[in-house]
Formats: sequence, C-alpha cells, structure tokens
Amino acid sequence: MLGIVTIIRPLRRVASLLTTPLEPEDFLGLINPLASSRQLRGVVTKVVPETADSTTIHFRPGKGWNAHLAGQWARIGVEIDGVRQWRSYSLSAPAGHDPAITVTAIGFVSTALVRNTRVGDVLFLDVPQGDFVLPRHPRPLLMLTAGSGLTPVMSMVRTLVPRRPDADVVLIHSARTRSEALFHDELLELADQFPGLQVKHWYTREEHGRRLDLTDLTDLEALCPDWRTRAAYACGPADFLDAATDLWDREVDAASPLTIERFAPVLLPGTGGEGGTITFEKSDKQVDAAGDVPLLDAGEECGVVMPSGCRMGICRSCLIPLVAGQVRDLRTGELHGQDGELIQTCINAAAGPVHLDI
Ligand SMILES: Cc1cc2nc3c(=O)[nH]c(=O)nc-3n(C[C@H](O)[C@H](O)[C@H](O)COP(=O)(O)OP(=O)(O)OC[C@H]3O[C@@H](n4cnc5c(N)ncnc54)[C@H](O)[C@@H]3O)c2cc1C
Ligand code: FES
Repeated sequence: MLGIVTIIRPLRRVASLLTTPLEPEDFLGLINPLASSRQLRGVVTKVVPETADSTTIHFRPGKGWNAHLAGQWARIGVEIDGVRQWRSYSLSAPAGHDPAITVTAIGFVSTALVRNTRVGDVLFLDVPQGDFVLPRHPRPLLMLTAGSGLTPVMSMVRTLVPRRPDADVVLIHSARTRSEALFHDELLELADQFPGLQVKHWYTREEHGRRLDLTDLTDLEALCPDWRTRAAYACGPADFLDAATDLWDREVDAASPLTIERFAPVLLPGTGGEGGTITFEKSDKQVDAAGDVPLLDAGEECGVVMPSGCRMGICRSCLIPLVAGQVRDLRTGELHGQDGELIQTCINAAAGPVHLDI
C-alpha cells in the first residue's frame, strides 16, 4: 500500500479530467487546489515525523475553515485507492496558528497518512468541532493522557502555557517507552521554560514497567497530590478513560470535573446478536455481517462508498436511510428500525436482514 496515496491522487485527477466534462469548479481547482465551493480543502505545508509511528501534518486550510479552539478536532478526508476515506483527528497546533494533526499509524487510513503524506498534498476537510476545550476561566488543570491521546492536550498546553503567566498545569502522560512518547522533548523544554507547567512521563515498558493504575488512588496521589482540586482532562485508550471516569465518580465532587475525549466509541460488551444480510440497494451489493459489525464497516468491506466521519456516533456524517429491517445500536443494545429512519451506520449493526438506501 505504501506510495499509493500520493501516486494515485494526481493520476485520478488527470483521468477524471479526461473522462468527465469540466465544470468551472474544476478549472478553479487546477489553478488553486484550495478553491472549491463544494468541499473544504487544505494543502499540506509541512510533514514532521514525531516517533517511528507518528507524524505531524501541518496544513493551510482554504476558505470556509473556522479557526480552531485548543483541543478541538476535525474530519480529514484523504483519497486511498481512489476512494475518499474520512477520519477524525485532534488539532495539535496551538489556537491562533495554522492547523496541524498528529497521526499515529494504527490502521488503514492512519498508516496511509503517516507513511505517504507529502508537502503539497491536498487534504479534504470539515470545520473544527468538539467540546474538549480549555475552561472559560483560568484554574489549575490536570491533564491525563496516554499514547496518541496527548494530541488535543498538546494543543491546549501550547496555547495556554506560553501565553498565561498564571497557568498551572500538571500533565501526566503515559507511553510505552521514551522514544514512543509524543512531543517528549518539546514538553520538557516547555516545562523548563515555564514554571506553570509540570510534565510527568510514565513509561509502561521502561522505568515504571507497568500501566499507570487509575483504579485506585496510589499512583495519582504520588504524581499529583492536589489532583482533587484541579479541573481534569483525560484522553487515551478506552480502559484508561473508563478507569479515570470511575475514579472521579467515586472520589471527586462536581466542582473539579473530569472532561474526557474518546477516539473510539464505547460499545456495550456482548451487544451483537445474530447479524444478517445487508443489502446496499443503490450500490447493488449484499454482504452477510455478524451482529457486532457496524453497518459502516460491512459496507466498506464489500466496496460500497459509505459516508463517514468520527466513526463513533458523534458527528452524524454516516447517516443512511433505512429501507427495511431492524438494526441494533452497539452502544446500548437497543433494537430499532422504522422505514426511512436515518441510521448512524458507524454504531449500528444488522439484526436480521437489512436494506439500506445507498
Ligand atoms: C474526536 C477524535 C479525535 C481523534 N484524534 C486523533 C489524533 O489526534 N491522532 C490519531 O492518531 N488518531 C485520532 N483519532 C482516531 C482516528 O480518527 C482513527 O480512528 C485512527 O487513526 C484509526 O483509523 P484507521 O483508519 O487507521 O484505523 P481503522 O482501520 O479504521 O481501525 C482502527 C480501529 O482502532 C480503533 N481506534 C481508533 N483510535 C484508536 C486509538 N488511538 N487506539 C486504539 N484503537 C483506536 C478504531 O475505533 C478502529 O476500531 C481520533 C478520533 C476521534 C473520534
Ligand atoms: S461517523 Fe460520526 S456519527 Fe457515524
């Protein structure tokens, strides 16, 4: 797959220009890749490798982009093998600067972005969104992050710490090893330069040799004794966030809230039923899917071009009208299915035969 994204993009463009009547839009796009009234785009201005598997991609967005708040994310589209794929990425650049995303290669789209993106490539964009943002009024903060969950928090730290002499931020970041820790050197430099930032790294495969344990108080009390009095933010893998949520529910009152950002949906274990045959009517495709496979994944698997965005039930970019059948919400186990109902395909699975209007 390596090389495919960058090679295919210009070839497809030429091929489509040769085979499709040109519209004024297309001439504009030839002169300036950011000039499109149909789809917001950005041009890649810098690509910075961060770790062996993570890369920061800086881009200059076209007209229609809204400046991001620190901590927000955006849908990013990229063409792979001729199909436009959408995923969500937190904006790691500070507010007030051109945006950047920091992507860790873990699957299909992220690996293509990390390995193949080059300066001058065009990304498809949606405007920044999300509520994982700094509090309106300054107060002591505790940031708990693990792995790529550091990205939205990095935007917050870069925005807040150099600009606010009264900033008081404790950042606890867990990574497997020092070399896998995102933004490692920059964070230590910021902490040296600004007394308002304390950075505590936790290495699960090096000096600590185990996971940061948030199921009880011991680790947290040792790392940040006044943690209860701080407004807390957490972003990382599901079990890390689940443990933090339980701890705050048990131990902390509402005056010191925990705000979390998830990169993947919380699915109810064992929600899947018997599944069924999914018919994608306009695409003339059919596939048998197990009861725990989202309709979105099943469609993509058999080559249907499915709309998507966050892939976790928050952005509603994946809505498709149901023609017939019943689906199961994988977050709650609830069965539903009115004819014509708009189905969030990223978090619903077939419960028996399903017909979708795509
Ligand atoms: C609001 C939001 C912000 C995000 N910000 C970032 C970001 O800043 N950097 C980044 O690298 N990714 C981020 N993601 C995740 C990103 O959207 C993709 O899910 C991720 O890149 C995997 O896509 P893929 O096509 O490579 O993997 P796929 O082939 O789609 O499969 C990967 C699987 O891993 C799950 N998954 C997603 N993220 C993680 C993770 N971090 N760890 C373990 N499993 C995961 C997915 O749900 C999916 O089931 C964010 C997601 C959301 C919803
Ligand atoms: S892709 Fe965002 S809600 Fe389904």
